[in-house]
Amino acid sequence: MSADSKDVLARIEQEKERYLEELKEYLRIPSISTEPEHKEDVQRCSEFVVDKLKTAGLSVESIQTGGNPLVFAEWNGAAGKPTILFYGHYDVQPVDPLEEWDSPPFEPTTKGDLLIARGATDDKGQSFTHIKAVEAILQERGELPVNVKFILEGEEEVGGESIERFVHEDAGQKLGCDAVVVSDTSMFAPGLPSLLYGLKGLAYMELRVRGPNRDLHSGTFGGAVANPANALCQMISRLQDPETGKILIPGFYDDVLPLEDWEREEFGKLPFDESDYMADLEVDELFGEEGYSTLERTWGRPTLDVNGLFSGYQGEGAKTILPAWAGAKVSMRLVPGQDPEKISKLFEEYVQAIAPTGVSVEVTGVHGAQPVLIDIKGPIADAAMAAQEDIFGARPVRVREGGSIPIVASFSSVLGVPTLLMGFGLPDDRLHSPNEKFNISLFYDGIRAVVRLLDRAAEGAGV
Ligand code: BES
Ligand code: MN
Ligand code: MN
Repeated sequence: MSADSKDVLARIEQEKERYLEELKEYLRIPSISTEPEHKEDVQRCSEFVVDKLKTAGLSVESIQTGGNPLVFAEWNGAAGKPTILFYGHYDVQPVDPLEEWDSPPFEPTTKGDLLIARGATDDKGQSFTHIKAVEAILQERGELPVNVKFILEGEEEVGGESIERFVHEDAGQKLGCDAVVVSDTSMFAPGLPSLLYGLKGLAYMELRVRGPNRDLHSGTFGGAVANPANALCQMISRLQDPETGKILIPGFYDDVLPLEDWEREEFGKLPFDESDYMADLEVDELFGEEGYSTLERTWGRPTLDVNGLFSGYQGEGAKTILPAWAGAKVSMRLVPGQDPEKISKLFEEYVQAIAPTGVSVEVTGVHGAQPVLIDIKGPIADAAMAAQEDIFGARPVRVREGGSIPIVASFSSVLGVPTLLMGFGLPDDRLHSPNEKFNISLFYDGIRAVVRLLDRAAEGAGV
């Protein structure tokens, strides 16, 4: 054990180029979980993770699920000390639109401090910090200051069904721990580390509107036959009030846990500059639910967005048709109190009720996630706060997030321990977008912070 972790921090300094090279190797595997043609890459990626955890010195197991494998690892040599469970995901999002990438998404490219690749921050780069921190301590000292477990999944980006089943069946036997640590989120701003206490839930729906049995000539048939594309747009326009930004599905807000006064007050104090935010996105104005600030809207209020829209002729120039069908993908981001299944049902009922005549509408749920609020307390939470302060020189702020990590709600409900969402990304990391990046200096700081966390957790120490 070491009060300042100097021994291991020095080793990291010597080895960091190797860590980066290994991360690049990891990023070269196109483990896109939503695309069936990448099934083998996802499998190969899980084997990469198994291999790295073994080399780090843990006992490792690949758990077959029917879906993508889960990777479990552990080291239990610190009798009487707490156990930390590290969670991460090795799957990534699709890369389209490919033409907007400045370098190939699966050929990691460095530009100054930036490492650019799909998965660089979400979540290969961030969760690799856990593996390298544990490896560095074991290589330096031959033992860890606390017990550790790892669980990595390959389905996070598609809803995390297999890990959900596993966590419930396991019921804390294999995964029993004193705290879960996740690095799959961002710091609020450069130099300002963050511990998240809230994630949104999700209900993701697909809509298909059908009309005539084939595309029709829009002159010969237009005006006589309902147009599915028109019908779909009419329905979509009735999902949100354009004035107030309220979602119009009856019952949508019924179970919403309102933001508390202290939260609104704390969010208001964070260094958030609306004009920088707009400049980065190149928009002139923002739009959202009336009566709430941008951070309140994205972190604490439920939202609805069309994610994809398709129908009719997509090629260049004009083709005069009345399309046979139209489709949309819609996501609703949910806040604590709301239940994804209930919201999906309300959505379907409403959409069927407002369907124009002359078309049929099919609604399917794609996947969902439970929202979660975390009670960040206990000695390991204190250790995580202090570890971040050690490395970043600033006390972490408590924030929420608009994104989801589906399994986190079950970590709370099944394992009954806090999940510490300690992210090393930055708000401009472009996750899910072209040119996703991770700052290399934050990759190294992440490894250092995890080392400090483990040493501090062993001391049972706060600050
Ligand atoms: N790492 C993200 C969650 C996240 C997003 C954290 C933004 C912090 C900032 C995670 O990989 C993710 O993208 N989750 C999906 C879950 C969904 C597919 C079920 C999401 O939020 O869209
Ligand atoms: Mn992620
Ligand atoms: Mn993601």
